[in-house]
Amino acid sequence: MAEAGKVHRATTTAPVNIAVIKYWGKRDTNLNLPANSSLSVTLSQKSLRTLTTATCSESYTGPDSLILNGEEEEIQSSKRTQACLRNLRQLREEVEAKDGSAPKLSKMPLRLVSANNFPTAAGLASSAAGFAALVRAIANLYELPQTPQQLSLIARQGSGSACRSLMGGYVAWRSGTKEDGSDSLAEEVAPVAHWPEMRALILVVSADKKGVPSTAGMQTTVATSSLAPARFKDIVPARMAEIEKAIQDKDFETFARVTMQDSNSFHAICLDSWPPIQYLTDVSRAAMNAVETINRKAGKLIAAYTFDAGPNAVIYYLEPDSRAVAGVFKNHLPRVEGWDNEFGAAIRSNEMGGLDS
Ligand code: ADP
Ligand code: DP6
Ligand code: CO
Repeated sequence: MAEAGKVHRATTTAPVNIAVIKYWGKRDTNLNLPANSSLSVTLSQKSLRTLTTATCSESYTGPDSLILNGEEEEIQSSKRTQACLRNLRQLREEVEAKDGSAPKLSKMPLRLVSANNFPTAAGLASSAAGFAALVRAIANLYELPQTPQQLSLIARQGSGSACRSLMGGYVAWRSGTKEDGSDSLAEEVAPVAHWPEMRALILVVSADKKGVPSTAGMQTTVATSSLAPARFKDIVPARMAEIEKAIQDKDFETFARVTMQDSNSFHAICLDSWPPIQYLTDVSRAAMNAVETINRKAGKLIAAYTFDAGPNAVIYYLEPDSRAVAGVFKNHLPRVEGWDNEFGAAIRSNEMGGLDS
């Protein structure tokens, strides 16, 4: 018999992931199925992470709730959050059906408290870390036996990019072909240890909330961009194969070229949308130019930029090139107006990492 009024609790952290082959377009908005496969690198939680606590209790009244960064987030009307909670409760019911003495957590209201230690909705993958943490925290609370890959099916419904934050290293989100979405899940392509020299530098150009949220922006692109169909059908599948081989071979030059080409292709279909969507700013373009200069001086590609749906740059490079890449940004860019912001340091250096659960 469960102790009446007991508060059951689980806390977890989740990392952000930054895609090198971008997801931008859905083929099914209800199940949150993508128009193309994508591939990302999971960053270390040492600098960017979401911290989420999930509790439930018989003594709780009212509906499920989420406090995000200290403010109540309206989740009753969020179909996607509701889908995650519904799926997780179903899995808990299976646990309770198998073990009659397991407390009936599935019947109790959930209270979620979450905080990102980096800008929310600014193009630094807060929805990815956020929904990965939400799913992981509740799965821990419910003591679910499912693997990260099985949980990725649930996180995907919260935010597509979140399915890739349940694993460390190099992670592919396979678009899948089934109508019910049961094969649209994340898969580890290589662990962090496969390429331990990989580094990411995050340049916070602006911590402001983006004007066009990702979900809305990609809908506009799918509905109006004449370039997008070619990207979904031919361009991305070819790049997925090329970058996966580059990762297996630890071929940084190919990795860098494909990463930059795909970031540019994604921002091109944004600009090709109507009304046009522009996430990059002059400061973003200054970062692109700086990477080009670094690569020209090196005589080969030693740095790769990529931008999500926002102006903030992520620069991938290898540790032996730290001085030539991160050194240049650290020495020069803080002096450029606009690089410093209320978020604190303009530059955050990351080692790669995975989800510590
Ligand atoms: P981003 O580029 O930061 O991923 P999005 O537009 O994709 O921006 O998503 C931002 C939204 O994700 C937020 O408005 C919020 O609804 C959700 N989100 C962000 N962080 C969390 C979190 N820690 N827990 C739950 N939801 C979150
Ligand atoms: C540019 O995963 O935030 O970061 O599924 O609608 O929540 P929803 O979108 P979201 O989109 C991410 C877009 C991107 C590219 C990527 O992460 O692959
Ligand atoms: Co997002």
